Amino acid sequence: MGLSTSNVTSSRVPATAVVGLQWGDEGKGKLVDMLAATHDAIVRFNGGANAGHSVVVGGTRFALHLVPSGILYPGKPAIIGNGVVVDPEKLIAEIDGLRGRGVETSGLVLSDRAHVVLEYHKAEDALREDLLAESEGSGGGGKIGTTRRGIGPAYADKVHRATAVRVGDLRRPDVLRTRVAMSACIKSAAARGLHTRPNAEIAAGFDVDSIVERALDHGRVLGDSIQDTTYLLHDLLRRGKRVLFEGANGALLDVDHGTFPYVTSSSTGTTGIASGTGVPMSAVGRVIGVMKAYSSRVGGGPMPTELFDATADRIRERGREFGTTTGRPRRVGWLDLVAVRYAVMVQGVTEIAMTLFDVLSGFETLRVCTSYRTPSGVSDRFPADARALSEVEPVWTELAGFGEDLSNARSVDELPPGARAYIDLVESFVGVPISMVSVGPDRTQTIHVGADAGR
Ligand code: GDP
Ligand code: IMO
Ligand code: MG
Repeated sequence: MGLSTSNVTSSRVPATAVVGLQWGDEGKGKLVDMLAATHDAIVRFNGGANAGHSVVVGGTRFALHLVPSGILYPGKPAIIGNGVVVDPEKLIAEIDGLRGRGVETSGLVLSDRAHVVLEYHKAEDALREDLLAESEGSGGGGKIGTTRRGIGPAYADKVHRATAVRVGDLRRPDVLRTRVAMSACIKSAAARGLHTRPNAEIAAGFDVDSIVERALDHGRVLGDSIQDTTYLLHDLLRRGKRVLFEGANGALLDVDHGTFPYVTSSSTGTTGIASGTGVPMSAVGRVIGVMKAYSSRVGGGPMPTELFDATADRIRERGREFGTTTGRPRRVGWLDLVAVRYAVMVQGVTEIAMTLFDVLSGFETLRVCTSYRTPSGVSDRFPADARALSEVEPVWTELAGFGEDLSNARSVDELPPGARAYIDLVESFVGVPISMVSVGPDRTQTIHVGADAGR
């Protein structure tokens, strides 16, 4: 009946998604940077400055937090979608830091619908963590171990709606002032009324004027990079451009599907793409799940395969397992295939990139967890409840280790038999092909397994 279809995207080239399959830090940044070479735009859709994505190019290391890892390709759109919570101060510092190192950042675009992290979100994050820490041992589960970047409180304000500030509001002084004033008022009242030991900073209220003035300054600096990224993305897709979605955090930190409550506050995987960008999941044809060849975790919460011995020290040291964002030593352990297979299922992963494989060389024996021993019997299911997960014991499958250094291998044929057996085991257990194997932090230290890998 003559309906216009001009706003309906029929993407000619399916988009690609890169998502973490564990508790974050799987090497997504490296993968995204590498794949960005063959894509036209890179998009972050979740999380905020809690992410720390390392990219190493020719020996130079870049740590990215809010800026998409595709930024190192000059002029290519690097888009921060509406699902990200943006701390403008941190974003501007990151942009300045990149420029200072000669990186051209003109491709950066920021959604006007993204939510803003303000100083009271960071104060509340810290307060909640301190109070939770005090509850440990008296029936409470202790703190989450957040990055204290204000992520949870900013997402909570988004859901509260009327007191939330969006990036577009940084350029609307009247809306900004009303929202910050109302938010500060409610938070102060809640802190006075609800907390037995009020945090002075919160209970005293906030300096609304200074928060608003700083936010407006940030809005001026970010200027025209603030755009309607929903239309921008659909326009790119309609023109047949290849779009790459960059997940932050990891599947097991997902607010719905992770080890709740020891999770972050967003949908960290493919479930976050549609809500976090306005692009339907039907536009995404390829989902690359990034998986470390072992496990790591930062912060609290259960981790069935965690190690505390000399093996842990060796993995931590060889894998440089210290947080990109907070510098905290990461907890490490053997690969948990029960958890990874669950993540692959939930995220709709079509192929796996296995990273940090070089870290596993030199062990006499390697172990992978292939089921859990639970109080009610052996199970190959990842439980919904963090407490249930904390009670499982891993059931191990052992493999012979390999002594060879993998960091110079560039094809599967160059891998020793022990390493190939490890890849085969993972593939057959998880049921998805491993298309890429990373053997070092540099872009070039990658083995492409399938014909399409790396593209
Ligand atoms: P992300 O948060 O998923 O992007 O991962 P991070 O950057 O926080 O952590 C991964 C760390 O491993 C970084 O220091 C990377 O430079 C490094 N890395 C990535 N791939 C490899 C690899 O295959 N081998 C080694 N040795 N390091 C790697
Ligand atoms: P990338 O993108 C590892 C963890 C924190 C904490 C929990 C909640 O680099 O993989 P938050 O500050 O989000 O409220 O903290 O989630 N966490 C991460 N751990 N890598 C990340 O990001 C993380 N983002 C959040 O350590 O346990
Ligand atoms: Mg990281």
